[in-house]
Amino acid sequence: MVIHTAKFLLSSPSFDKCPVANKPEYAFIGRSNVGKSSLINMLTGQKNLAKTSSTPGKTQLINHFLIESSNVKKQKQQWYLVDLPGYGYAKRSQTDRRRWEQMIENYLRKRPNLVQVMVLIDSRHTPQKNDLAFVNDLDKWEVPFSLVFTKADKEKPAVVQKNVQLFLDALKATWQFLPQVFITSAEKKTGREELLEFFEQNNLR
Ligand code: GTP
Ligand code: MG
Repeated sequence: MVIHTAKFLLSSPSFDKCPVANKPEYAFIGRSNVGKSSLINMLTGQKNLAKTSSTPGKTQLINHFLIESSNVKKQKQQWYLVDLPGYGYAKRSQTDRRRWEQMIENYLRKRPNLVQVMVLIDSRHTPQKNDLAFVNDLDKWEVPFSLVFTKADKEKPAVVQKNVQLFLDALKATWQFLPQVFITSAEKKTGREELLEFFEQNNLR
């Protein structure tokens, strides 16, 4: 897939305020500060498309980006990338957290054109409770998702592999099918080709 243009479209406070659901859509979610916005910038090749910050909790709304690309057959495709606010931000109030849960659950369960949710997980850490709880929610809601391990440039490859395996092992305990896994670094552009190819294949369905 070749990306021609990537434009910010809209920030929405709830799923029913999102753009018309007439294009394939991929949403990026994960713990606050895991690298969602950075990954969107890396994939689109635009440094400042999604706002990034070293302070967690930067992204607060449902942010839609309109992507125009072409596939191997040179067919033009239009689709949406969505940057979602992260979970597990300790400084957020109870009320804000509940508002986040409502907004995210509604969006994930009701958005008709959502093809896949990309769940980002920090590859430097062993499985974290809130990440496991979140993917179990997705499974319960029957929302299709993949796992995207981030910041791989910050750890030795062997440690990244081990953390990925531990995460899958934790899921294996109760699941029959395991999700697809991507290993990425926004810094080094690792995983870009694999992710774009994945989007391209799913867009064609
Ligand atoms: P919220 O919107 O606050 O939930 O955060 P986010 O998940 O969008 O994270 P963001 O992309 O803003 O990145 C958080 C911090 O991690 C920033 O300082 C980024 O520069 C850094 N970062 C993100 N991805 C990578 C990566 O692949 N490698 C390295 N070394 N740093 C990264
Ligand atoms: Mg962000």
